[in-house]
Amino acid sequence: MSETDHSATPSVEDTGVELGMCPCSDPTRRKLILTALATGACLASRKSAFGEDKPGSDERPQQADVLVFSEGEHAGEVIKPQDLELGGPPVHAWPKDSKTSVVRDGSRLNEILVIKLDPAELDDDTRSRAPDGILAYSAICTHAGCPVTAWVKGDSGDKDVFKCFCHNSEFDPRQSAQVVFGPAPRRLAALPLSAAEGSLTVVATFVGKVGAPQAG
Ligand code: FES
Repeated sequence: MSETDHSATPSVEDTGVELGMCPCSDPTRRKLILTALATGACLASRKSAFGEDKPGSDERPQQADVLVFSEGEHAGEVIKPQDLELGGPPVHAWPKDSKTSVVRDGSRLNEILVIKLDPAELDDDTRSRAPDGILAYSAICTHAGCPVTAWVKGDSGDKDVFKCFCHNSEFDPRQSAQVVFGPAPRRLAALPLSAAEGSLTVVATFVGKVGAPQAG
């Protein structure tokens, strides 16, 4: 399978993830799942916060898109490189079409984690797509499609990592977000960026498959 996902339009399989791949049946995780449901993490579909059903809002990030905050008091505003704190935590983002100004928040598969790390910490492959140490990854867990929400100390190391609390998978953004703990079968998809002219710009489509195996 190619590492690059060039599809601009969600597939039927993508829709499968959006229909909820969160494993809500395990009682030991019931509380976490209920919390996720309460916050909308496992909703069957996601309504746009910035304009419902606008053309392109559910298409994957594309070249020349800029990244905007997806939450908080600055939601919808363009993320500037200086908005990112070295060492994390990550900022949650949506891609935004720079030509039409449509925010691509019509699909949860477009949720992105943006983080700034010391370039010296990154492996060569990761550093090659990290302008000033800035990295972007899909926020959708590759195990069962839950959102990756945490930036916490890793289970088997002393560094902070991305964590999905559904089944505790952990991903290290310094190593292309490869899995360092838990059942996730593969790394998070990466989104190559450039950092120039006061914004973060997408330079290529996702590298790697977004979301759970059921996504195809
Ligand atoms: S969905 Fe199972 S660890 Fe993320």
